[in-house]
Amino acid sequence: MKSQILQNISLKPYNTFGIDCTAKSFVEVKTVEQLLNILEMVKAEQPKFPSIFILGGGSNVLFLKDFDGLIIKNSITGIEKVKENEKDITLYVSAGENWHNFVLFCLENNYGGVENLSLIPGTVGAAPMQNIGAYGVEIRNVVERVKVIDRKTNKQFWISNKQCQFGYRSSIFKHEAKDKYIIIGVEFRLTKENHVLNTSYGAIKDALENDTPTIQEISKAIISIRESKLPNPKEIGNGGSFFKNPEILSNQFEKLKEEFPAIVGYPISDEITKVPAGWLIEKCGWKGKVVGNTGAHKNQALVLVNYGNAKGEEVWNLAKEIQQSVFNKFGIEIEPEINIVG
Ligand code: EPU
Repeated sequence: MKSQILQNISLKPYNTFGIDCTAKSFVEVKTVEQLLNILEMVKAEQPKFPSIFILGGGSNVLFLKDFDGLIIKNSITGIEKVKENEKDITLYVSAGENWHNFVLFCLENNYGGVENLSLIPGTVGAAPMQNIGAYGVEIRNVVERVKVIDRKTNKQFWISNKQCQFGYRSSIFKHEAKDKYIIIGVEFRLTKENHVLNTSYGAIKDALENDTPTIQEISKAIISIRESKLPNPKEIGNGGSFFKNPEILSNQFEKLKEEFPAIVGYPISDEITKVPAGWLIEKCGWKGKVVGNTGAHKNQALVLVNYGNAKGEEVWNLAKEIQQSVFNKFGIEIEPEINIVG
């Protein structure tokens, strides 16, 4: 079956910020074949589609205005076993699978490796873009390779974990290879026994009932932490953390500590310290503050929210004000981790 290109579609249901803007053209693809057909058609009909944007779960994107090109919503689903032995299993997961549903599938089958990444919004295909991470685990720890379509040639090939150049909230797909590929699936290597548990994060320890938890218990603890702190996008529009935690020179951190003794920092190396942006934003007085239709969330200042009818520009203006105030107070530049479109 062919997928149909629709005109002037509201993007409100397709972005967790709940920004109401329109896409001039919109198409949902459910198979790789449908996607390839659309890409061929786009090539043949240029310049009809000045730009293309691939949308997954829309959980890490802020649309600033109406989108003038074609939005391709990747809804290609399926989880397949590639190989397994007594200890490990390799799964191929299509890009349009919902991330948390995939985590639940792993927990049901007792496959370990993604339990700390429970309840992260978005799709599997979007996850490698920014190397999703939470509670001491990043997707880079479990990705074997990523399957892509080259947008120039429409050919399919694999990008290995190493080639992905994963870093903190970053990968080749956000930098060198930005807009070069479309991710159509991800291969994961997970454990079937002797799971490597990561419970070092303070809040997990507090939420766990015993010292030797199962992966299912870890997931449960993480779900309860996330639910208590992070606003549910179904109730209040948001895109999770709006900014990345900045990495600053440790000298600068030591100087700041003299002036602000309560400042929090995690050493990354001898020279670099990571500072929680949420702390910086809170200290600038933004936590829980409501500005028009937007604001910084009351439980987690790093999360900017849409209280109803915010335009993308309004959220972005608040973000810029926050950036400026953090810079004025601490001399630290904080960068968005959200993908700003437009
Ligand atoms: N903090 C404050 N005020 C705030 C928020 C945080 O003082 O309003 C302080 C906390 O007290 C804590 C520190 O900042 O000392 C870290 O806070 P938290 O544990 O909530 O984590 P985070 O650094 O703010 C990161 C990720 C989250 C992820 C959590 C847990 C980034 C940009 N964000 O947040 O990811 O869930 O760690 O691992 O790295 C996301 O990317 O959308 C996301 C939610």
